[in-house]
Amino acid sequence: MFDVYSVYDVEIVAGRGSWVYDAKGQPYLDMYGGHAVISIGHAQVDYVAAVTRQLEKLGFYSNSVIIREQEVMAEELGAVAGLGSVATGGARADWQLFLCNSGAEANENALKLSSFHTGRKKVIAVGGAFHGRTSLAVAATDNPEICAPVNETNNVIFTPLNDVAALEAAFDAADEEGGAAAVIVEAIQGVAGIKVATIEFLQAVRRLCDERGAIYVADEIQCGCGRTGRYFATDWAGIQADIYTMAKGIGNGFPMGALAIAPCFEPQKGMLGTTFGGNQLACAAGTAVAKVMQRDGLMANAAAVGEYLVEELSKVRGIKEIRGKGLMIGLELEEGFEGVARRLLMEERVFVGTAAGGRVIRLLPALCVTREEANLAIAAIRRVLSGF
Ligand SMILES: Cc1ncc(COP(=O)(O)O)c(C=O)c1O
Repeated sequence: MFDVYSVYDVEIVAGRGSWVYDAKGQPYLDMYGGHAVISIGHAQVDYVAAVTRQLEKLGFYSNSVIIREQEVMAEELGAVAGLGSVATGGARADWQLFLCNSGAEANENALKLSSFHTGRKKVIAVGGAFHGRTSLAVAATDNPEICAPVNETNNVIFTPLNDVAALEAAFDAADEEGGAAAVIVEAIQGVAGIKVATIEFLQAVRRLCDERGAIYVADEIQCGCGRTGRYFATDWAGIQADIYTMAKGIGNGFPMGALAIAPCFEPQKGMLGTTFGGNQLACAAGTAVAKVMQRDGLMANAAAVGEYLVEELSKVRGIKEIRGKGLMIGLELEEGFEGVARRLLMEERVFVGTAAGGRVIRLLPALCVTREEANLAIAAIRRVLSGF
């Protein structure tokens, strides 16, 4: 294998709900969701049944034929995301869906579409952002270490998070060179260590995009899919983006990405495309996720359990700051608290994520995690932090 990942010495071979199991059958509480990917729970029964049924019928045929499963998925996703659907007559009923395979690909396509639509080249991105590893997505990602020389471009202007004056200056700088095609924003930055964009900042993005003719791309790949208690984290700011990019949770582990595209964009044949995106099997997975989220009230659960976790963890010694919303929680640890994620895994059998070199613990569990499971995680975190 091409050795690019730092891995724990654990092999996970099975999962159910918020639990995963190693080869010896030892259980681990998954408060990480495989990096915010598991939304409705590992091996959720309706999901397994839907994917199995589809696989037995037809796994794949290309986008050169009618794929009815895409319509079904668009309907269900539109309903759960509040983007409207024929069935619900939702306010945003004319939104369009483009299906692809990953988060980076979703962002790549969103930025391309913005550029096609406006005829412009400049992209405004936010400091600390992570948008993926394909060429434009990585260029809009504020981490030179993962940007190869071939990805370097002067088309991206970075602006600090939550600084409205700097954002305005970035628009001015773009205007000097033909104008901004797009602003791409995570309403809550994940990889940066759960940094929350202020409502004021997101509303300024919306206002400036309107004033300057740019496209608002909301990267909801980590913070979306109901994780914060609303389908899109951007929804908390009471505004609408022009394009929402999605991946991770929408497939509950089945690799898929998606763009929800505002009605004003006109598709041209061939402007976007993919071999695998939107295949029958992926759509069966995505449809099952959206249905289960609606039926089981998982967004409300994410809000309630998330609030409970924050409340209880705020009483735990060793945590300097707690950030986030719903089940997207960052625990910034006090100085000197090192190796906490590893100890949680090895000593307590609890999976968590990290950021900022381990100084921030990221909790990104499945949206079905229960209060009892949250209590187990809180107790484990308390035990590990009390050892410092
Ligand atoms: C906010 C955000 N955008 C984009 C991506 C890239 O997604 P993928 O790894 O599926 O390409 C990620 C992945 O972590 C992410 O967190």
